[in-house]
Amino acid sequence: MPSITDSRAWTDLQAHAAVMREVRTLNLFDADATRATRLSCDAAGLYLDYSKQRVDDTALQLLFALARQQDLQGWIERLFAGAHVNVTEDRAALHMALRADARDVFNDRGVNVVPQVHAVLERMAVFADSLRYGQWRGATGKPIGDIVNIGIGGSDFGPRMVCGALAPMIDGPRPHFVSNIDGSELHALLQRLNPETTLFVVASKTFTTQETLSNAMHARAWLVSSLGEEAVPRHFAAVSSHVERAGKFGIPAYNVFEFWDWVGGRYSLWSAVGLPIMVSLGPIRFAELMHGARVMDQHFRTASPEQNMPVLMGLLSVWNRNFLGCESQVLAPYSQRLALLTGWAQQLEMESNGKGVTRAGESLDVATTPVLWGSVGTNAQHAYFQMLHQGTAMHAVDFILPVVGDHPYHDMHRKLMANCFAQSSALLRGKTADEVRAELIEKGLSGDALEAAIPHRVFPGNRPSNTLLFPRIDPFHLGALLALYEHRTFVESVMWQINPFDQWGVELGKQLAHQILDPDHPVPVDPSTAELMRRSFMHRND
Ligand code: F6P
Repeated sequence: MPSITDSRAWTDLQAHAAVMREVRTLNLFDADATRATRLSCDAAGLYLDYSKQRVDDTALQLLFALARQQDLQGWIERLFAGAHVNVTEDRAALHMALRADARDVFNDRGVNVVPQVHAVLERMAVFADSLRYGQWRGATGKPIGDIVNIGIGGSDFGPRMVCGALAPMIDGPRPHFVSNIDGSELHALLQRLNPETTLFVVASKTFTTQETLSNAMHARAWLVSSLGEEAVPRHFAAVSSHVERAGKFGIPAYNVFEFWDWVGGRYSLWSAVGLPIMVSLGPIRFAELMHGARVMDQHFRTASPEQNMPVLMGLLSVWNRNFLGCESQVLAPYSQRLALLTGWAQQLEMESNGKGVTRAGESLDVATTPVLWGSVGTNAQHAYFQMLHQGTAMHAVDFILPVVGDHPYHDMHRKLMANCFAQSSALLRGKTADEVRAELIEKGLSGDALEAAIPHRVFPGNRPSNTLLFPRIDPFHLGALLALYEHRTFVESVMWQINPFDQWGVELGKQLAHQILDPDHPVPVDPSTAELMRRSFMHRND
């Protein structure tokens, strides 16, 4: 297959990018009084301002042409129709079915999966309510006050992040999350918990993950040591697409909540993996979260590319990455409650699109996923924003801002918002040497001291950002926001011809870790690793 870089749409974009590299976005506002509102989009209660991106109408038209060339609409239809878009595993990617309305139809292999999705959701709701209302009790008759999710990657990030974002609404058992094979995480948590009132949820799609099974074994031993073996069924539940493996772990079938191979781990928070959300926040709020995502799904499927928020964000991401040379994608949520959003989005973006070959296995000669990173504003301003403003490389930033705070300190929320707008504005406009000179002269500087000071205070500006506004962090808008990023990732993958639903790149390390631990079959390793093993394994850990 010919490379995408030889295609008409790609070469047109390259040619136009050469022009746009010389353009100052700020001047585009002068030329078009409507730019700020025209380059915006509404969906599911979210407002996207992309007018600070370095695009003009030609760039946008060429990006839409690229989308047409790559058959984006066809791929969206195939995704929603349950086609096996995950070609290397011969699977559909039907996370939209997890949040579908009961009357919706999503087919996998010719079978509508929505009834089975809703059957599991109903079982989850019954279990969640029995925990929330104290009907489900621990082995000694006490109600459950703490729920511990044991899982990693997609079986951790989503529910952990949602419970953090909606923390003020938690009115059920307190949620906790353990993921790392570093036992200090589990150990520290168990010190604080009472086995009589704790329920563990072992969440693993495959139920083979080393971290999860190790944590679960130790949690089980901790429980059994104080309540006995017979307490396990009252204190353990499981979430998996391999229910029989959960059964072998000693978790009774009635406490095992299923999901399916057509749910990718990083797209799974809407499935039974969301059980801790449902337990701590209640089935109604979980339904609202799903509703927000569903409205975004419908928007993604039906809106024209020009008014389609995930399409616009995906295409802008490709533009920044492949044509303007942005080195990374920063997420800057201006909300303490979204502190865990970036961790979730990192797995979503980089496990999905961190690939070097096309769906057909051909080497790609274009850059794929940007490094996605970031943290909450305003804290981030006091860390790496220096680099975003004056560093030698350009990074794309997504500012994410709820316009109403969830606390009584309204003055602080106004300051938070002012900081968010100030940062995107500063990235856009920068500060010229003339502006700096005038400011410094005003302050009384002159001569050599003035000239020496100027270069350090100049901001190049012209650095691209999106701003996403939404009313508040409630389940509906959070659901919509998460689905937006899921679909944005898909749009990028279609442009790059990637299968975003497999993750073979995580396998080699897993395989080697098992081999390194196997005393009966020592594996030949490289000399560096051999020396590191010799120096560390000689310390007893038993
Ligand atoms: O890190 C690789 C990975 O396979 C992720 O894709 C997945 O979300 C995570 O491990 C956990 O897998 P599981 O849910 O099967 O335990």
